[in-house]
Amino acid sequence: NSKVPASIVIFGAGGDLTRRKLIPALFNLYVEGYLPPLFRIFCVDYVQQELNLFRESLRTGITEFSRNGAPSADKWTDFSERIDYISGDFLQRTTFLALKQGISGFEKSVRKRGTRLFYFAISPRFIETVAHGLYTDQLANRDNADRLVIEKPFGTDLASAKTLNKYLLARFTEKQLYRIDHYLGKETVQNIMAFRFANYVFEPLWNKKYIDHIQISVAEKVSVGSRGGYYDGAGALRDMVQNHLLQLLCIVAMECPGAYEAEVIRNAKTKVIRDIRPMKSAQVSRQVVRGQYKGYRQEAHVSSASTTETFIAAKIFIDNARWKGVPFFLRTGKSLEKQSTVIIVQFKDSPHKIFRDDIVPNRLIISIQPELEISLLFESKVPGLQMKLQPVEMDFTYNESYSTRPIPEAYEALLLDVLKGDATLFMRADQVEAAWKAVMPILDSWKKQARNGLHAYVPGSWGPAAAKTLLHPHSSDWILLPETLARAAP
Ligand code: BG6
Repeated sequence: NSKVPASIVIFGAGGDLTRRKLIPALFNLYVEGYLPPLFRIFCVDYVQQELNLFRESLRTGITEFSRNGAPSADKWTDFSERIDYISGDFLQRTTFLALKQGISGFEKSVRKRGTRLFYFAISPRFIETVAHGLYTDQLANRDNADRLVIEKPFGTDLASAKTLNKYLLARFTEKQLYRIDHYLGKETVQNIMAFRFANYVFEPLWNKKYIDHIQISVAEKVSVGSRGGYYDGAGALRDMVQNHLLQLLCIVAMECPGAYEAEVIRNAKTKVIRDIRPMKSAQVSRQVVRGQYKGYRQEAHVSSASTTETFIAAKIFIDNARWKGVPFFLRTGKSLEKQSTVIIVQFKDSPHKIFRDDIVPNRLIISIQPELEISLLFESKVPGLQMKLQPVEMDFTYNESYSTRPIPEAYEALLLDVLKGDATLFMRADQVEAAWKAVMPILDSWKKQARNGLHAYVPGSWGPAAAKTLLHPHSSDWILLPETLARAAP
């Protein structure tokens, strides 16, 4: 398949995503020999740009954002010569006709109708317009070769996600649609599947009998920055929970799929999302904490009376035989003390303690980023003449175990999967809708009482204190790094 020529089209090529993520990812794939020998990249955007200047802006983007830094001159020359720029309005048919001409010209030159990948790196309000253009001019009419990659946010609530799915599925097949959630492409996230389903030792413990609770925390140090225009209409629940956090929850909580195959895995994930217990309105105020960092209303393009949350912590339950009664605590926020994405599986305390200082329960700590590691916390006897206990960790770190292996970026893994036609790590229509359904009670309840319960927090803190109390009596705080690392951290 990798020999099949590919036309890679990026709509919204003038945006941040293209410069920061997509082009650096494509360039790394190219350098490492993962792109087919014959490919062409068509960048489409409204802005008028001179081709060489545009290419140059992509080169500096790679230098700034690629894990490999500045591109070598010869590789860049060869790569950049395959980049075209089409400036055009998505509302005008001429844009799609110019694109069609470009793709046909490339396919003629290589004498093959290859794979066509259409990446929607655009504002959600243009998704239908671009899809319509592709459909009308028959740019994506082969369901085994033409693929549309749709970025999040996919809709703004359940109803709009359904409408969008309906619109797309009336024109394309589900097989052609790759709804992206870049968290699923992260190396450490993919490894959770391997950890759970290739190591039988944990499986017997992975349930309500042995697990006290699970924390899934995606803390960000960055503020909304220049993204206020989008973010103020979205908020943390839509921006992070409906997609990234629920996808992490799926991987942690799903049943073992029958095979490592797209449909089987997506069935298992959809099932667990559907098992999330819907919150009643009265429960929302008890089980969900929302916050906004001080100064958020003064950010560019943010309303001065905004009630949009930049922080959310929620306690949710999954009503099935495996998880009944086990709380899952989700937390995410911007302008927090530091970046840290971790999943904590906290096991139950020993039913019978024979040591007075056996205090800390066993914990499995899966650090997604910026640390890449998995550790198991357990009590150990401190060397000496007394029977004194202290928790220690068994650590697996990527640094130690895979020091010579580069860690691919999420977008590299996901773009390659699209080129291969592998949808395992992408969201199916029913999955996206189930995720919206799970968060709708919270959105609905907030709609009714916009200001109520919005806690202000200091930027650089860990968010509202109420997020800590939410954990009671399961934990006294949100767990960050493995204990000793945390102690050693400056
Ligand atoms: C994006 C959100 O999907 O994910 C951003 O829109 C967020 O608000 C980003 O900052 C976080 O991604 P990562 O890979 O930096 O953790």
